[in-house]
Amino acid sequence: MNILVVGKGGREHAILTAISESPTETQLRSFPGSDAIFELARPLADEAHPIDGVASLVAAMQREGIDLCVAGEESYLVRDEGLANACAAAGIPCWGPPKEAAQLEASKEFAKEFMVRHGIPTGGYAAVETIDEARAAIAGKYPTVLKFDGLAAGKGVAVCPDESSAEEFLNEVLVERKFGDGRLLVEEFLEGPEISIFVSIVDRDYQILAPARDYKRIFDGDEGPNTGGMGAVSSLEMLDADLRHTIEDEMVRPTVEGLIADGLPYRGFLYFGLMLTPDGPKMLEYNCRFGDPEAEAVLPMIRGDFANYLLEGAKGTLRPDLISFSEGWSVCLVSASAGYPASSRNGDAITGLERVEGARVFHAGTRRNADGQYETAGGRVLVVSASGPTRAEAVAKVYAESDKIDFPGRQRRSDIGTRNF
Ligand code: AMP
Ligand code: GLY
Repeated sequence: MNILVVGKGGREHAILTAISESPTETQLRSFPGSDAIFELARPLADEAHPIDGVASLVAAMQREGIDLCVAGEESYLVRDEGLANACAAAGIPCWGPPKEAAQLEASKEFAKEFMVRHGIPTGGYAAVETIDEARAAIAGKYPTVLKFDGLAAGKGVAVCPDESSAEEFLNEVLVERKFGDGRLLVEEFLEGPEISIFVSIVDRDYQILAPARDYKRIFDGDEGPNTGGMGAVSSLEMLDADLRHTIEDEMVRPTVEGLIADGLPYRGFLYFGLMLTPDGPKMLEYNCRFGDPEAEAVLPMIRGDFANYLLEGAKGTLRPDLISFSEGWSVCLVSASAGYPASSRNGDAITGLERVEGARVFHAGTRRNADGQYETAGGRVLVVSASGPTRAEAVAKVYAESDKIDFPGRQRRSDIGTRNF
């Protein structure tokens, strides 16, 4: 089976690793990929056939006889005619939803309207266009949550403790138009631990996978600016039976039924970002893909035939019997480069990779230098992932193995898997 995974980070490295460990024989391909990913999966693009959008990507899949396209990241889902839409037209099974359904991630207002229409618990909100409308919606209540409804490179959400921070963000977004045109959502501030629920959806069928928690801030104690995620922890034990049922009844099933009712067929992973508030779980957001770095904690726990699971799902049959999750805990720890998240530093030599034992190393932002050594090439550089029968053992193992690796300016949190429990 020829499988292509689209994306280039730690999540895609983890997806390809899980597929490569399936009993089904596979030939793996990658686009755009990275040097580390190319150790597992041959690049799809070559000099004679550059890929610069969805049409050329799907043309390359046809030329290379790809049997299954797996969307690791989201951008191609909503670009041009949409990755899944173009795959469907070309007759290539795709794990990842069509452009119309991927609006659940691409537009925060679309997602909120969907939640409200289908009775899915979420915080109250107002969509506004001007700074006066925004002030009226905030109505002097702080903290308030402000979200730009468009592409903002992860910088479009502000949780504002007071009027001055809100005014600053409103000015940037609605007056200076830092992110361009687009509306703004004023959301009710919610409090509680966050949890990420990953669900495989195939039309009317769904399967809830192992949950995870990620750590978004750069510094220990959840301090400092938001990042793409500095680590994650996963275990089936994170959800007790009651909470699992509540989430399934109030969020997952209404979402799957809502997609059908709205004429939005969906095949792929859907990520439910939840907050466990004193009034019960509430939805913060949907993402039409696996989380990153959550994938690097969850996917190493998959057992069974993940390759066939994805292929059968993309072709229209959900096969929960093909996979299971191991018991215990899995923790992944990000090493980020100097300057992250405001900037990142490239070209720092990475040492010690060969000393890691009994843990996995997923490459998020590395490249090989002229001598073939790995060096930093991005903000999040490496993700070490380890498991253990208890959370404490998984945490100890992931830190012990990550300690063997180093590069100048490395940043790491010391409380991944410990904080928020
Ligand atoms: P989002 O991109 O919508 O998931 O928001 C990014 C982060 O902002 C979330 O992971 C939360 O930590 C925080 N956040 C988002 N919405 C709210 C809310 N309504 N109340 C409190 N915090 C929020
Ligand atoms: N870890 C958060 C995300 O993947 O969006």
